[in-house]
Amino acid sequence: MDTAGRYRRFTTMEARGHSPAYERLTGAIAEDRALIALIDELPPAKRQPNLLLAAVRFLDGPIGDYAAFRDWTVTHWDAVRGTMLERRTQTNEAGRCAVLLPVLARLPGPLALIEVGASAGLCLYPDRYRYRYDGGAAFGPAGSPVVLECGTTGAVPLPARLPDVAWRAGVDLNPLDVADPEDVHWLECLVWPEQRQRLARLRDAVRIARAEPPVLVRGDLNGTVRDLVAAAPAGATPVVLHSAVIAYLPPGEREAFAATMRELGCHWISNEAPGVLPAVDRLLPPGPSSDQLLFTLALDERPLARTGPHGQSLEWLA
Ligand SMILES: C[S@@+](CC[C@H](N)C(=O)[O-])C[C@H]1O[C@@H](n2cnc3c(N)ncnc32)[C@H](O)[C@@H]1O
Repeated sequence: MDTAGRYRRFTTMEARGHSPAYERLTGAIAEDRALIALIDELPPAKRQPNLLLAAVRFLDGPIGDYAAFRDWTVTHWDAVRGTMLERRTQTNEAGRCAVLLPVLARLPGPLALIEVGASAGLCLYPDRYRYRYDGGAAFGPAGSPVVLECGTTGAVPLPARLPDVAWRAGVDLNPLDVADPEDVHWLECLVWPEQRQRLARLRDAVRIARAEPPVLVRGDLNGTVRDLVAAAPAGATPVVLHSAVIAYLPPGEREAFAATMRELGCHWISNEAPGVLPAVDRLLPPGPSSDQLLFTLALDERPLARTGPHGQSLEWLA
């Protein structure tokens, strides 16, 4: 698909219904041949709508009116281009813990959590957030500022208790540092403009992580996951988990990761878009059409649920 097509697809399939500002901007970019030509100077992996829009916001560019956005972006192209080359789409969504929790709570604790593709590590704190399923009573640590809301369907085994987490570690190609104001500002710019609640949640989750910073190593998940599992403390159950990560890997690396996980034999929780883990897909019952952007939650390659990509919904499979 060419760049204009990618922006058109983003407009209708991703931004529509979620971000009027992004829908307006990406719809206009797709028809703007001069701006598309600038974007096409970047390597293909760097032409993503999310990356361009976050870079403009990171540099304090305007995102209201298209003419102002376009003028500013063209005038400041060197800086925008530099930010797009330097940074990555690394949205870190603590809300995903709401869909991970029912699985984590069923595993024998204490748990040693190992997140691959951790970004800033905000999904490593499922025991530090509060949860409210289907608008019911919130539960979790009384003082936590983060309350994760999640709507459910099906027989979700809602947990009676939070998991006991003894150890948390992660790996990322480019770990973001919750103590670094620029990294945190980048994470903020990755949240779409109208999503004020997600932004507030991000800031609160960053505060929690800052109080107890995660151990994050820089590297490729295939090159590090064995060592991380081996480093888990004795007596804790190692659990490798990831969400919205495997799609970034070429197919051969996805298969290599799956093969390593089978060999390691520890628990493996995946929360990924359909199509990236074929062994999970094969066991997935027929469901909503592929234009509905739902992830599949699986434990040890057994699909358990379809999930909203930000952890906002959890549809337990029969
Ligand atoms: C969309 S973010 C998701 C972050 C986090 N898992 C979450 O759910 O909030 C994907 C992350 O995967 C990381 N990533 C992509 N490919 C990777 C690889 N081969 N090894 C390690 N991390 C990788 C990216 O750098 C990015 O931080």
